[in-house]
Amino acid sequence: MSTKDYKRYLITSALPYANGPLHLGHLAGVYVPSDIYVRYLRQRNRDVISICGSDEHGVPITLKARKEGTTPQDVVDRYHSINKKAFEDFGISFDIYSRTSNKVHHETASEFFTTLYDKGVFIEKTSEQYYDEEASTFLADRYITGTCPHCGNPCAYGDQCEQCGTSLSPADLANPVSTISGSKPVLRETRHWYLPLDQYEPWLKQWILEEHKEWKPNVYGQCKSWLDQGLHPRAVSRDLDWGVPVPVEGADGKVLYVWFDAPIGYISATKELTPQWEKYWKDEETRMIHFIGKDNIVFHCIVFPTMLKAEGSYILPENVPANEFLNLENDKISTSRNWAVWLHEYLEDFPGKQDVLRYVLCANAPENKDNDFTWKDFQNRNNNELVAILGNFVNRVLVLTHKYFHGKVPEITGLLDRDKAVLDEIKTIAGDVERSLEVFRFREAIKTAMDLARLGNKYLADTEPWKLIKTDSERVKTILNVALQITTNLTLLLDPFLPFSMKTLRGILQFDQTSWDLIGSPDLLEAGHTIEKASLLFEKIEDEQVQAQLDKLMRTKKENEEPAEVALQKEEISFDDFSRMDLRTGTILEAEKVPKTKKLIKMQVDLGFEIRTIVSGIAEHYRPEALPGKKVCVLANLSPRKIKGIESQGMILLSENPEGTLHFVEPAADAINGSEIN
Ligand code: MF3
Ligand code: ZN
Repeated sequence: MSTKDYKRYLITSALPYANGPLHLGHLAGVYVPSDIYVRYLRQRNRDVISICGSDEHGVPITLKARKEGTTPQDVVDRYHSINKKAFEDFGISFDIYSRTSNKVHHETASEFFTTLYDKGVFIEKTSEQYYDEEASTFLADRYITGTCPHCGNPCAYGDQCEQCGTSLSPADLANPVSTISGSKPVLRETRHWYLPLDQYEPWLKQWILEEHKEWKPNVYGQCKSWLDQGLHPRAVSRDLDWGVPVPVEGADGKVLYVWFDAPIGYISATKELTPQWEKYWKDEETRMIHFIGKDNIVFHCIVFPTMLKAEGSYILPENVPANEFLNLENDKISTSRNWAVWLHEYLEDFPGKQDVLRYVLCANAPENKDNDFTWKDFQNRNNNELVAILGNFVNRVLVLTHKYFHGKVPEITGLLDRDKAVLDEIKTIAGDVERSLEVFRFREAIKTAMDLARLGNKYLADTEPWKLIKTDSERVKTILNVALQITTNLTLLLDPFLPFSMKTLRGILQFDQTSWDLIGSPDLLEAGHTIEKASLLFEKIEDEQVQAQLDKLMRTKKENEEPAEVALQKEEISFDDFSRMDLRTGTILEAEKVPKTKKLIKMQVDLGFEIRTIVSGIAEHYRPEALPGKKVCVLANLSPRKIKGIESQGMILLSENPEGTLHFVEPAADAINGSEIN
């Protein structure tokens, strides 16, 4: 591990795609840890900047826009502001939340590409790719579906079969279809620029496998496996009309691959933040840390560093503390299945409880393996830890101070060994928290920090000031002074984790300092200083609140899983039974509502050889005006029946969906009226 003392810190957090809202998996994996780290560094008075923003390019955003019948810009505008606000609401304290569709970024990414291009870094290659002739566009892998060569799934995507999980390339699919127009795509030649990762392999092996053995095992392991398998050149451009245009003559219709431009977004955002951006990006005394989720490892540990190295003037990341994934109630979080806890919905259901979520997500962070978020655990940690340990200690100290000393910090009348031991322990705990934070062990850090509150509770339980007050009020002064010092130290120690509640507590204590270096110093609150009345920092979460969340998830499960109800099959019949039915094609000539009924429509249907009057219960599904001209199938030899006084001379065939919607069984458009169906 590098013990070098850095002059400044550049902290980046993965730029979330601006094509959907954020859920608690995002917070747990990336943004809570990065925010804790940044807040800690600020408290230590380090020169630190925290960079994030929206990743606004890439195929999924164009897909979403197409689906909604709007533009990609409209999609990213919407989610950029929603996500920016969600981060603010949860106290994720970026110094800038930028976006990759802005001008600075386009310029920066474009220049970066040009520098590599001019240096001759890229390989230019022509290859064959699927092209949709109807939509006049090349097709990204996701736009192509076809039959999976492994499992026969007819709806496999060009990059992956979701049925068997195999990753595919479009050429593997049998019967490829463009999802844009539904037409059969053709192979066409196209030229792209490739970053020759293979040429950088020896350097990457040295830099990661030899010089960064301290990276987290999950990160190091993934890098090693990529490097062991051997790297290949990667295309850094795409045929697409949304993104940063490739700044090369004759590259019309081509943009930079989203994973080429997005990490450059960290640089552009820094430029936007400060004219001194170069000191953060180009000075070896900067410690750059990328906070990401595990699906981003290869891009941040291999691709982006290779780009930076090839460019030549930038520093490289010192560490890339990637987290694994957080599941929700034993199931993978999924946007498409709506299996998630959305940040804005959380705040509607638990207003003001940002710190509770921050706490639970940190205490249960998926640091070394995938982890599960459950509402029960959320409740337990809130009730048994935040309320019972931290809230309880703080509240007792504040209430007793008001009760015995009118809210004035009492003086120390004489320190016993037990008091000294407790006060000494504060520094020890802070040192442990520091060491955990420096190596990105956030679970361990928060647990250790909470030990100070545990210690406080034990101190009160051992010294029992509420008993002693009757016999030895001088001693109680010292005890409450010590307890108040612990409380004040808690505001410093827990601020990175629980910024909202610690701010409230500082208000109550009338203590406005946050410097980490103050932790453990004597008399943080001086005798005679007046504190405000206590208010509860945390409150119990009730079973009903947990149940409401579980019910919500159950509803989602039902919506996702309910199989279409299939009507029971009828008894077998013989061919003769079937052939007794005279089924014919026909065309509706006229249609009108049957007065004073809700469902009935009376129609004149041309069967070729004669015109029939037929009454049918379809008025809730079709308007009469829409019917004339429609081709239908008719059971022509059904005995006539009187319906509301009208003789119905046959029956029109309809299919019925499980939820009750009706559809005509339609013959081909060129079917001649009166043709037999058999
Ligand atoms: N948008 C990507 C994701 O959500 C992360 C991009 S990180 C960056 O997975 F470095 F490329 F910006
Ligand atoms: Zn398959």
